[in-house]
Amino acid sequence: MTLLTARKVEVANVTKQFGEVTALSDISLTLGQNEFVSVVGASGCGKSTLLSVIAGLEPPTAGSASLGGHVLTGPGRDRGVVFQSATLLPWLSALGNVEFALRGEEGLTKKQRIDRAREVLAQVGLDGFEDKFPSQLSGGMQQRVALARSLSYGPEVLLMDEPFGALDALTRRTMQELLTQVWEKHRMTVMLITHDIEEAVFTSDRVIVMTPRPGRIRAEIPIELDRPRHADLIGTPAFHSYYTEILALIHERGH
Ligand SMILES: Nc1ncnc2c1ncn2[C@@H]1O[C@H](COP(=O)(O)OP(=O)(O)O)[C@@H](O)[C@H]1O
Ligand SMILES: [Mg+2]
Repeated sequence: MTLLTARKVEVANVTKQFGEVTALSDISLTLGQNEFVSVVGASGCGKSTLLSVIAGLEPPTAGSASLGGHVLTGPGRDRGVVFQSATLLPWLSALGNVEFALRGEEGLTKKQRIDRAREVLAQVGLDGFEDKFPSQLSGGMQQRVALARSLSYGPEVLLMDEPFGALDALTRRTMQELLTQVWEKHRMTVMLITHDIEEAVFTSDRVIVMTPRPGRIRAEIPIELDRPRHADLIGTPAFHSYYTEILALIHERGH
């Protein structure tokens, strides 16, 4: 891979004001192509705003976000977004929700959309649940459908804002393992926002720690743990050492 073809996400000197509030202050960061990066930090430090700027949902007040050298000025199918709430269409089945998302893909027949939807639902462990409606699925399963929907059109960048934040602890752990497996197999650039330090260390190649008022980057910690990663990693001293380092950085005072 040469520098010319590397499709990095570059956030360059981004400031975002909401009236008097400076949500982001002169933030610069790079997500390498196919890198898995988490962003952690106290509530209100600008994590969601940062994700919205990259998603093209909020224009920065100053600076820019770009993908592969092209400035991002709006949403696009090169980026998939998963939020805390699955936001599925209640009148469509799991399969229908994914197939619906694929209707924007030109040149796909309905049969091809359905085949593709089945394939991504199987990837997230939902084979056998294709015909269930959102109301018939648990919260974790609904988030699997939301993930499948985003994966269906093959985005280069997957942006996730506390996607497992509303799930119980056991389901969350299962989803962290699932996401890690999907990423280890298919690779794409991921930015995962989370308040769960364990989740950040377990899933990521690098963890970015933000500080509030105004939102800035305090530290970037490369996570040099072997892959594939399994749940038993969480009990190891190396894991614990990353955990305590990041915890201390989040709670440290001053800038
Ligand atoms: N649409 C908005 N209008 C006004 N203020 C906002 C808006 N979105 C976020 N903010 C403010 O920007 C700051 C950062 O918010 P946010 O990015 O949601 O933080 P986080 O996701 O880290 O909790 C907060 O002070 C929040 O109140
Ligand atoms: Mg947020």
